[in-house]
Amino acid sequence: MKLSTYNPNNADKIEQLFIKTFSDSEGQSEGEVIGHLVREFMDSTDVNDLHCFIATEDEQIIGSIFFTRMIFESGINAFILSPVATHTDHQGKGVGQKLINFGLTALKENGVELAITYGDPNFYSKVGFSVITEQVVPAPQKLEQPEGWLAQSLVGDEIEPITGKSHCVEALNKPELW
Ligand SMILES: CC(C)(COP(=O)(O)OP(=O)(O)OC[C@H]1O[C@@H](n2cnc3c(N)ncnc32)[C@H](O)[C@@H]1OP(=O)(O)O)[C@@H](O)C(=O)NCCC(=O)NCCS
Repeated sequence: MKLSTYNPNNADKIEQLFIKTFSDSEGQSEGEVIGHLVREFMDSTDVNDLHCFIATEDEQIIGSIFFTRMIFESGINAFILSPVATHTDHQGKGVGQKLINFGLTALKENGVELAITYGDPNFYSKVGFSVITEQVVPAPQKLEQPEGWLAQSLVGDEIEPITGKSHCVEALNKPELW
């Protein structure tokens, strides 16, 4: 398995991977929602606000992960991880965790100070995320499941509470995604 930064020429394959993986795990309509989200990331999000990585095996894309910029009034350099997918046939073999760790290392090398995500704490705690409250890190939309609001510092410190509002990229700024 090889991990690398995505190439925009692979956009169609990446979109298909997300549609297939999320349709298999959460149903077709969720597959379409997530496919649309990653397509918008790749087509219309500023390259400075986006990091995407892929896992390949025998030249097939078997996993992918997106990080997009979050803006806080404090000016902290922060990205949110969402979404990540490992192809259904390759799950449970460490690909997801390797992709996340690879992405976090790349972000850190780029000066990112804070990584955020929104999902299952049991999974994301395996790769360094802890549950946080919206008092510590404000969310850009109302959270349907605040127990899944997670973050980790990439500069080794505890997370200092951030005051003021937060903003995510336009593709993610939709109430139904939160
Ligand atoms: C979640 C996902 C990315 C994990 O990828 P993966 O390559 O299967 O994960 P890994 O093999 O690195 O890790 C597997 C571990 O995570 C756990 N895990 C996997 N998916 C999980 C989930 N949805 N919830 C909780 N735990 C999960 C497994 O139990 C396993 O734990 P173990 O190592 O203690 O046995 C993959 O299952 C997937 O694409 N799921 C569908 C899409 C999705 O839900 N994405 C995440 C939300 S954005």
